Amino acid sequence: MGPMQKPVRIAPSILSADFARLGEEVRAIDQAGADWIHVDVMDGHFVPNITIGPAVVKALRPHSAKPFDVHLMIEPADPFLQAFAEAGADCISVHPESGPHLHRTLQSIKALGKRAGVVLNPATPPSAIFHVMDLLDLVLVMSVNPGFGGQKFIEGQLDKIAELRMRIDASGRDIDLEVDGGIDRATAPRAIEAGADALVAGTASFTGGPGAYAANIAALRGEG
Ligand code: DX5
Ligand code: ZN
Repeated sequence: MGPMQKPVRIAPSILSADFARLGEEVRAIDQAGADWIHVDVMDGHFVPNITIGPAVVKALRPHSAKPFDVHLMIEPADPFLQAFAEAGADCISVHPESGPHLHRTLQSIKALGKRAGVVLNPATPPSAIFHVMDLLDLVLVMSVNPGFGGQKFIEGQLDKIAELRMRIDASGRDIDLEVDGGIDRATAPRAIEAGADALVAGTASFTGGPGAYAANIAALRGEG
């Protein structure tokens, strides 16, 4: 563990929940031990899929007191930051490729009083964050190409996680290091070993229905 690495937080992605019962699903995954609720926002343009917008985030907000970890896969992101902040996002993360001025986007998120994150696609180098670390609360490493749940973990991202762990530790800043995509009970310990301290999990959290959620989350923590 790096000196700044915290006990792992599990962030179930509601992308894998039953969209017809989303409020109940958020309550169930919260009660099952989720640390954060991960919300995947897709626009059919930055990524080849369309999911949910601020109105859904607002509707879900009363169903959980846990932090909403909002992952924006939209281009541009800037015009929607305020709407997600007002809808109840606690952390808002953006991809550097989704806008021309990452530093300005992060400043905007901070000005809205929210935690700010940067998401690195599999081909995006760690250096994308080196000059914005003073604005960061979270770095999210994609271990699949964004757009869909249920994809296979890309092994090559473990090196990137390790490099970012060293960078964060060297910075002395309190920055969460989260991993997203293909996380299950086999890949979770490898991501943690590489230096991650937060794990997004869609399929692995929601598989089996509500009766399985607590065991699913415990398994991702390496318990049971
Ligand atoms: C993909 C999303 C992920 C996705 C993960 O673009 O960012 O959060 O829901 O799903 P699993 O855990 O099934 O790979
Ligand atoms: Zn995500």
